[in-house]
Amino acid sequence: MNSQPAAPDTGGRPAPFWRRLVHAVRHGLVLPRTDQERKRAVVAWFALHFRPVRLPTRSLTWTHTFGLGGSALVLVLLLTGTGALMMFGYEPAPGNAYRSIERFQDGTRFGGLVRGVHHWSANLLILVVVLHLLRVFFTGGFHAPRQFNWVIGLGLLVCVLASNFTGYLLPWDQLSYWAITISTGMLSYIPLAGDWLQRAARGGDEIGQATLIIFYSLHTTFIPVALVVLAGFHFWRVRKARGVVVPRACRRLSRRPAGPRPIRPPGPAAGSSGRRGWGSPGSRSPNSPGSWSRARWTGSPRIP
Ligand code: HEM
Ligand code: HEM
Repeated sequence: MNSQPAAPDTGGRPAPFWRRLVHAVRHGLVLPRTDQERKRAVVAWFALHFRPVRLPTRSLTWTHTFGLGGSALVLVLLLTGTGALMMFGYEPAPGNAYRSIERFQDGTRFGGLVRGVHHWSANLLILVVVLHLLRVFFTGGFHAPRQFNWVIGLGLLVCVLASNFTGYLLPWDQLSYWAITISTGMLSYIPLAGDWLQRAARGGDEIGQATLIIFYSLHTTFIPVALVVLAGFHFWRVRKARGVVVPRACRRLSRRPAGPRPIRPPGPAAGSSGRRGWGSPGSRSPNSPGSWSRARWTGSPRIP
C-alpha cells in the first residue's frame, strides 16, 4: 500500500500554489497505518532507526523500562548543553576559578539556573543510571545476546562517575579542594603503582594548577567524547538485539489467550488415553516456559 498521500488531482492543469504547499507538508507528516507503511517510515526517517521495524508490544510498556535509559540520555544532553554554556565563563586557573563561577552565577542572566541544572542533573544522573542498571539486571537484560551491551553500560557508568568526580574539583572551593586531596591521596595505598597513579592524577605532588587543568580537560573533552561514543554504541546494540529484552514470563503470558484459566481437564488419568494431560510424564509443567500452548487453552484435541 502506498504510504504517500495522493497528489492533488487537478485534471492535468498545474495545482494552485497553496495546494502544492499543503501537499508538500502533509507528504512528510502522514502517519503510517499498515505494517508496510511503518517499515517505510523507519527506513525513511533516521531518528526512527533507534527502534527495530517490528518488536514485541510488551517491550513498549512504560513499566517495563520506566524510561530510565531515555531519562539518562536526556540528563546527559542537559549536562552537555549547560556545561558548554558554563565554559563561556569558567576560567580553569586556581586564582580565578571560584570567582569566575561566582561571576557566571550571579552576574549572568540565567547563570544561576544553568549552574543549578548542571549540578542537579549530575546528581540525578547517578541515581537514574543505577536504577537503570538494576532494571536491566532484574529483567535479565544482561544475558546473551545482550551481554556485550551490559559491558558497554559498565563503561558508561564509569564515565558518569568520572564526570562527577572531575567536575567536583572545578569550583575550586574549600570543599572541592579537600575532597580531591583526600580521594587522590587514597590512590597511594594501591600496591606497586599507587604513588605513580597519585602523581599522574594530581599532575605533581600537590593539588594545584596542573591538577585543575587535568581535571578540566578530562571533564569537558575526554570523558564527554567517550560518553558519546559509548552511548552511540549502546543504542546500536539495543537496536541490534531487536529492542529491549522481554522476560520469559511475559512472553509466556502474552501467548496465553484472554479469558479465565481453565481447570484441569476431567476424564481418565493423564497419559492413559493417549492424550497427554497436565502432570503426565510427556507434558511440561504449566509453570515452565512455553507450556501455555494455544491448543491446550482452546481445548483443541490436537496437542503438539
Ligand atoms: C555526564 C556528564 C557530566 C557530569 C556528570 C558533570 C558533572 C559536573 C559536576 C558535579 C560539577 C560541579 C558542579 C557544582 O558543584 O556546582 C560540574 C562542573 C562543571 N562542568 Fe560538568 N558534568 C558533565 C558534563 C560536562 C560537560 C560536557 C561540560 C562542558 C562541555 C561540563 C562543564 C563543566 C564546567 C565548566 C563546570 C564548572 C562550573 C561549576 O562548577 O558549576 N560538564 N560538572
Ligand atoms: C549514561 C548512561 C546510560 C544510558 C544513556 C543508557 C541508555 C539506555 C537506553 C535508552 C536503553 C534502551 C532501553 C531502556 O530505556 O531501558 C538501554 C538499554 C540497556 N542498557 Fe543502558 N544506558 C546507560 C547506562 C547503562 C548501564 C550502567 C548499564 C549496565 C551496566 C546498561 C545496560 C543496558 C543494557 C544491558 C540494555 C539492554 C537492556 C534490554 O534489552 O532490556 N546501561 N540503555
